[in-house]
Amino acid sequence: MKIFVSTSLPSLAYFLVIIVFSSVPTSSAADNFNDCLIEPHFVGITTAEVVYYPTNTSYTSIFQSSIQNLRFLSPSTPGPLAIVTPVDEAQIQIVLGCARDFAVQVRIRGNGHDMEGLSYRSPVPFLLIDLTNFREITIDVVNRTAWVQAGVTVSEFYYRIAEKSSALGFPGSTWPSVGIGGFLSGGGYGTLMRKFGLGADNVIDIRFMDKNGNIFTDKQSIGADVFWAVRGGIASNYGIVLAWKVQLVPVPATVTVFNVRRTLEQNATSLVHKYQSFAPSTDRNLFVRARITPENLNADGSQKTVAVYFQALYLGRASGVLKIMQNNFAELGLVKQDCLEMSWAKSALWFAGDVGFPKGDSLEQLLNRELAPKLYIKAKSDYVVEPISKNGLKQIWQRLMEMEQGATNLVMTPYGGKMSTFSEGATPFPHRIGNLYMLFQGVYWNGSTPVETQNSRLAWLRSLSNDLTPYVSSNPRRAYVNYNDLELGVVNSSYAEASTWGTRYFNNNFKRLVQIKNRMDAENFYLHEQSIPPFPLT
Ligand SMILES: Cc1cc2nc3c(=O)[nH]c(=O)nc-3n(C[C@H](O)[C@H](O)[C@H](O)COP(=O)(O)OP(=O)(O)OC[C@H]3O[C@@H](n4cnc5c(N)ncnc54)[C@H](O)[C@@H]3O)c2cc1C
Ligand SMILES: *[C@@H]1O[C@H](CO)[C@@H](O)[C@H](O)[C@H]1NC(C)=O
Ligand SMILES: *[C@@H]1O[C@H](CO)[C@@H](O)[C@H](O)[C@H]1NC(C)=O
Ligand SMILES: *[C@@H]1O[C@H](CO)[C@@H](O)[C@H](O)[C@H]1NC(C)=O
Ligand SMILES: *[C@@H]1O[C@H](CO)[C@@H](O)[C@H](O)[C@H]1NC(C)=O
Ligand SMILES: *[C@@H]1O[C@H](CO)[C@@H](O)[C@H](O)[C@H]1NC(C)=O
Repeated sequence: MKIFVSTSLPSLAYFLVIIVFSSVPTSSAADNFNDCLIEPHFVGITTAEVVYYPTNTSYTSIFQSSIQNLRFLSPSTPGPLAIVTPVDEAQIQIVLGCARDFAVQVRIRGNGHDMEGLSYRSPVPFLLIDLTNFREITIDVVNRTAWVQAGVTVSEFYYRIAEKSSALGFPGSTWPSVGIGGFLSGGGYGTLMRKFGLGADNVIDIRFMDKNGNIFTDKQSIGADVFWAVRGGIASNYGIVLAWKVQLVPVPATVTVFNVRRTLEQNATSLVHKYQSFAPSTDRNLFVRARITPENLNADGSQKTVAVYFQALYLGRASGVLKIMQNNFAELGLVKQDCLEMSWAKSALWFAGDVGFPKGDSLEQLLNRELAPKLYIKAKSDYVVEPISKNGLKQIWQRLMEMEQGATNLVMTPYGGKMSTFSEGATPFPHRIGNLYMLFQGVYWNGSTPVETQNSRLAWLRSLSNDLTPYVSSNPRRAYVNYNDLELGVVNSSYAEASTWGTRYFNNNFKRLVQIKNRMDAENFYLHEQSIPPFPLT
């Protein structure tokens, strides 16, 4: 059994391995491995057009193309031995065969949003299977279902649905470029979650490949356990999802959005206090998140405030949401002029545009995989189960105002509604009834931010997280696996040790995930710092 013991990437071990590799060029696993790919002896097809070695001119651009977290776009993130961008399933089978025979680690990449870059970086030599060419979408409007291949982004999917029907949608992410492969495999939330649940709650079938290259064409053949595990337990622990079959959901022809900004001077503290009980309990057709960020009150930044952006999608017309807000959250002072009516697909573009990239009317932008900016980001997440008191909020604001404008934000994403109707064990994603909202915490910087400033922001985030302890869930302190955070812990030498971070993402479901891993992949072919470990459980 191979178990990771390194705490940080890149580790010293990696460099040692590289030295060993380069000093014995004739007989290393890497060379054998290259031979395997160049002259595939598994199947009689050529893989040359889809295999990029470090010597190929486009290796770097392909590698970097979907490194969404710019923190990992640096020479200290070692590239793979080879990148494979398979165009068909047989090519994946060949590559897995090589990896097995030569004991080379693989990483599976959808569109590269993994917060810790685990889909494309490793402390040991590895092979990258990038699913970018798996891009077919087949929509069945009559049955309200779709087959989506794993390399599609959620916004491409939105566009293709809207092309077929303005009455259908899908509960994907708010961020447009997120890959459907990783999104669904970790649960996946967005603006439709209060009405329809997670993306993973709407998966109805799957096409899957195990590490031996066996293809399972439906959930019956793969078995109930694995079908359960891959919908929230991070699919790459178990194999490769080739395509998902999902349920499309009904959306009205016209939806309403708003984005209302309130600062501390405009009673933001009272508003957020009230928001915490309003947003998770209101009408399921209404999703209001709160994005909270320090802002300058004067040009030199010596005076600060906290601004809260209440950002909403309502599945209906403006008159409907105005009525709900008037009756239940009048303090916000929402007025008709704040409300924009549009199609559901446009609302996806609008939500994306909020965070600073090109707004505009053309739905075609949803097809642009580069629509969202790549960020330097480190994130953490928590779940809030009781409203934070006004005093608690004020303490948090004090912490936020220590930071530069643009360097941090918190996002409250309301749960409740449909989310509360699932039992904790329905999928590996356990954060259901009782959770008011998810509290995302992020820090950001740019390419010219000095390293000391980067480090101080990372340290600030850790200390904020520490200060949040009394206000968030405990035993376990819950976190969202799609906002993975290696600071929570890494795979270690026992089930008990791995449980310290595993139960934070999965609560009691962690044990079942480990059991399934043990059955599917006891030798731990698919592993990374926070992969599900195959420890035997009695
Ligand atoms: C800027 C940003 C915004 C985000 N916004 C949201 C949001 O609104 N809602 C939300 O729920 N999440 C959000 N996320 C988190 C996002 O859902 C996860 O990072 C997700 O894993 C991304 O999928 P990907 O294919 O782009 O990532 P990748 O990095 O390619 O993959 C992530 C993980 O999934 C595995 N994986 C990917 N494809 C497959 C496959 N076909 N088979 C098996 N395993 C696979 C990878 O091996 C890796 O472990 C956001 C992340 C970022 C960085
Ligand atoms: C392994 O777990 C122990 C106990 O939880 C912890 O002290 C140690 O830092 C962990 N090691 C790694 C590499 O995470
Ligand atoms: C990589 O380079 C080799 C040798 O020049 C070439 O045969 C192969 O087609 C290149 N691969 C790609 C994907 O361009
Ligand atoms: C709807 O699903 C049924 C059963 O799977 C299938 O027979 C039928 O062809 C589908 N309808 C369309 C329009 O594809
Ligand atoms: C803030 O709230 C107080 C008390 O609820 C109210 O009197 C006051 O008008 C509000 N101020 C603003 C700017 O909304
Ligand atoms: C980049 O970050 C630095 C320091 O963090 C800041 O001073 C600068 O304004 C930022 N530049 C841009 C373009 O945002």
